[in-house]
Amino acid sequence: MSMYNSPRAYSSRLRSCLQTLSVARASYSTTAAMTAPPSFPFARPHAWDPPAEYARLRATNPVSRVQLWDGSTPWLVVKHKDVINVLTDNRLSKERSRPGFPEMSAGGKEAAKNKPTFVDMDPPQHMQQRSMVESLFDVDAIAKLRPHIQRTVDSLLDAMVKQEKPVDFIDKFSLPVPSYIIYGILGVPFEDLEFLTQQNAIRSNGSATATEASTANKTLLDYIGKLVDQRGESPKEDLISKLVTEQVKPGHIERSDAVQIAFLMLVAGNATMVSMINLGVVTLLQYPEQLAKLKANPSLSSAFVSELCRYHTGSAMATRRVAKVDIELAGHAIKAGEGIIAATQSASRDEDVFSDPDVFDIARFLPKEEGGRGEDGYKAMGYGWGEHRCVAETLARTELEVVFATLFQRLPNLKLAIPFEDIKWSPPRKDIGITELHVTW
Ligand code: HEM
Repeated sequence: MSMYNSPRAYSSRLRSCLQTLSVARASYSTTAAMTAPPSFPFARPHAWDPPAEYARLRATNPVSRVQLWDGSTPWLVVKHKDVINVLTDNRLSKERSRPGFPEMSAGGKEAAKNKPTFVDMDPPQHMQQRSMVESLFDVDAIAKLRPHIQRTVDSLLDAMVKQEKPVDFIDKFSLPVPSYIIYGILGVPFEDLEFLTQQNAIRSNGSATATEASTANKTLLDYIGKLVDQRGESPKEDLISKLVTEQVKPGHIERSDAVQIAFLMLVAGNATMVSMINLGVVTLLQYPEQLAKLKANPSLSSAFVSELCRYHTGSAMATRRVAKVDIELAGHAIKAGEGIIAATQSASRDEDVFSDPDVFDIARFLPKEEGGRGEDGYKAMGYGWGEHRCVAETLARTELEVVFATLFQRLPNLKLAIPFEDIKWSPPRKDIGITELHVTW
């Protein structure tokens, strides 16, 4: 016998069941939504403030899961000590060809198929290739280069002050400074600098179309290829000649590897350098009492640059790995093939390592006897950590030190040509940067 003694009773029961089911489904999807990992990268809430999620996760959930654009759910590590563990653990790999490696975009996934350079290699290949260029970036080599960096900064400022005010600071200063210097190290002839700097800007400034960016990329690669051939015939004292003479000719690497390594050195740090120069100017203008100290004592530039690179961790998406075997990290079981993102931007604000981490303090890394906090600038994560820590850190720091020891001496009245609120920032889910900066003095 039917449970329902009339069609009406049946349809009422059915409606009630469907209602129960829909409440259950709604509650299931709420629970699922509650447990689904948050989407990553997190967004900066405002201007240069880091994403608020980092502080919350440091306090409540330092090793967690996040969801990327492709639905994958790598681990996110936000505490300083765990970031160091991730970046020094050889059971974790930087090889982007390994399944599970966390890619941040469709373009990145595509690029991961290319033949890698040392930035994407594991030991022992990583150090074999990195050591081919390292000597040109060590402390002695950069100390010798310092007068050239100073001349480059001075002459770009000379040219900038001749322009009608306000000027496009990126175009006239923060882009050409690092470009001209790295081109000099590579051995690019002076007369080609302007053209190549333009091409580099097109490939990396984000406002070009995909076709324009890839054409500019190809132009740069073709140009470097020709330079590799020329230096093969008549070597000079530069990075490309060194690669050709010491590596390509004896057969350690192929011509195409030399082109790729030179290209890596050309593009790896350029956009970040531009960002850090822009951010340095804007940060000083926002903290006039700290700017006054720097103007009174330009040798504070070194301490300022360390704090700048801690406070604005300008390259925060590169420190990614994938587990080669099962490991345990801070009590969590991470399986082979799972991705890990080490959030250096969060580690640089870790309250267990830096006092008042959200305060910008030019004296943070000065010794206590000089009125500073006596903290250790090497612990700031701006340049990464471990074997892949930025190979050009000394160069980058020296360029920034020279820039900030010079800029406000030469132009003490330098100021923004627009209000701070109108500055154009990089998209909130991308690395911190400024896309347009007009200044006057
Ligand atoms: C302020 C400027 C710079 C910042 C903040 C910066 C930051 C970083 C960071 C965070 C890494 C580590 C990536 C990782 O672990 O995978 C890195 C690596 C690297 N950087 Fe820089 N960088 C800067 C300037 C430069 C410059 C000017 C160059 C080139 C001349 C450069 C070339 C490289 C290269 C080739 C690597 C890969 C090193 C390796 O994998 O062994 N960087 N950089």
